[in-house]
Amino acid sequence: MKLAILSRAPHAYSTQRLRAAAVQRGHTVKVLNTLRFAIDLSGAEPDLQYRGKLLSDYDAILPRIGNSITYFGTAVVRQFEQMDVYTPNTANGITNSRDKLRATQILSRHNIGMPATTFVHSRADVRLAIERVGGAPVVIKLLEGTQGIGVILAPELKVAEAIIETLHSTNQNVLIQSFISESRGKDIRALVVGDRVVAAMRRSAVGDEFRSNVHRGGTVESVALTPDYEQAAVRSAQIMGLRVAGVDMLEGKDGPLVMEVNSSPGLEGIESATGLDVAGAIIDYIGNQVAFPEVDVRQRLSVSTGYGVAELVVHTNADLVGKTMRESGLRERDITVLTLHRGTAVIPNPKRDAVLEAGDRLLCFGKLEEMRSMIPERRRRRARVRKLPKEPIIES
Ligand SMILES: Nc1ncnc2c1ncn2[C@@H]1O[C@H](COP(=O)(O)OP(=O)(O)O)[C@@H](O)[C@H]1O
Ligand SMILES: [Mg+2]
Repeated sequence: MKLAILSRAPHAYSTQRLRAAAVQRGHTVKVLNTLRFAIDLSGAEPDLQYRGKLLSDYDAILPRIGNSITYFGTAVVRQFEQMDVYTPNTANGITNSRDKLRATQILSRHNIGMPATTFVHSRADVRLAIERVGGAPVVIKLLEGTQGIGVILAPELKVAEAIIETLHSTNQNVLIQSFISESRGKDIRALVVGDRVVAAMRRSAVGDEFRSNVHRGGTVESVALTPDYEQAAVRSAQIMGLRVAGVDMLEGKDGPLVMEVNSSPGLEGIESATGLDVAGAIIDYIGNQVAFPEVDVRQRLSVSTGYGVAELVVHTNADLVGKTMRESGLRERDITVLTLHRGTAVIPNPKRDAVLEAGDRLLCFGKLEEMRSMIPERRRRRARVRKLPKEPIIES
């Protein structure tokens, strides 16, 4: 394949490793400076100029978009998407994960453990917000901080209030989050590629520092993840719409607590801690996807009028509980079940003799009218059948 790595740091460890891994596998690879593209919307088809010339054809890109250029960088990635060039991380995925609040909001409905988090605007609501997440000590975070900068541990309520007020007065938005004391100074970084964790490490902060970021002097060691940690990491990355991601988790007393999902994870710490060829795994994955790309189902299916994708909840259709897929009658009603969601497990193409349980959710494709008739009553807060949006966003 012909691959472009979008990066402003051609000599950085991660870029060098990715380039070498691609060359080693016989691919053609170029490192292109994200900021030297021009998005060309003047012709009949979407195009890109690079350093003033029309860009040649690429099969895939690997975006490594730094925090300081999110807007322009994601615009370039979106343009590649319009040109049907494969990218493991979409512009939407990168945008969603970059903002800690947005990411937490999106993940919060999917049964993924996260530290209790709250977001307020008014001074009058700050104290209650801190109490809601368990009171001081409390963690305060800038929405778009990175490398540990912009993450503060406030020991007392008064101090927390003062910090939040100060930041608000300079128009900075902050998250208020419960401090996970049992994980103090330690966290887990899982490197997700596609639908698996290819490497994982535990990071430990130095001295009395509570942030374990490598950029804050944290040390790293290889760690074997238990299935609950693996699942939390893979699901978080997938929900965000990222096929290459670094997922940060605290070790809570009841299991993993996802803090953030990084769309351009550094490779140096994790490769040195684990001795694994993470760069190679990323390039192999992209190579496979280029040969057999996934399609954005929602974008394509919304074209056929009257048909669409919806989620049916089994317990609100009580007559389905205990029946097999065959007996459910869905097929006869022109409804195809794409996946069966049970707790956090996802069963694709469920078998005809699979027995439905209360609490199962079926992601279906079919006639919207037919599926609408299976909604018993309109629930105010949570619609039991949700029609998925036509917009090609990964997560609604
Ligand atoms: N709620 C929390 N409880 C305990 N430690 C935390 C909490 N949130 C963050 N930390 C520590 O601070 C570090 C940085 O936080 P994180 O949200 O990942 O921000 P950044 O984007 O700057 O890395 C984490 O790696 C972790 O060690
Ligand atoms: Mg982090």
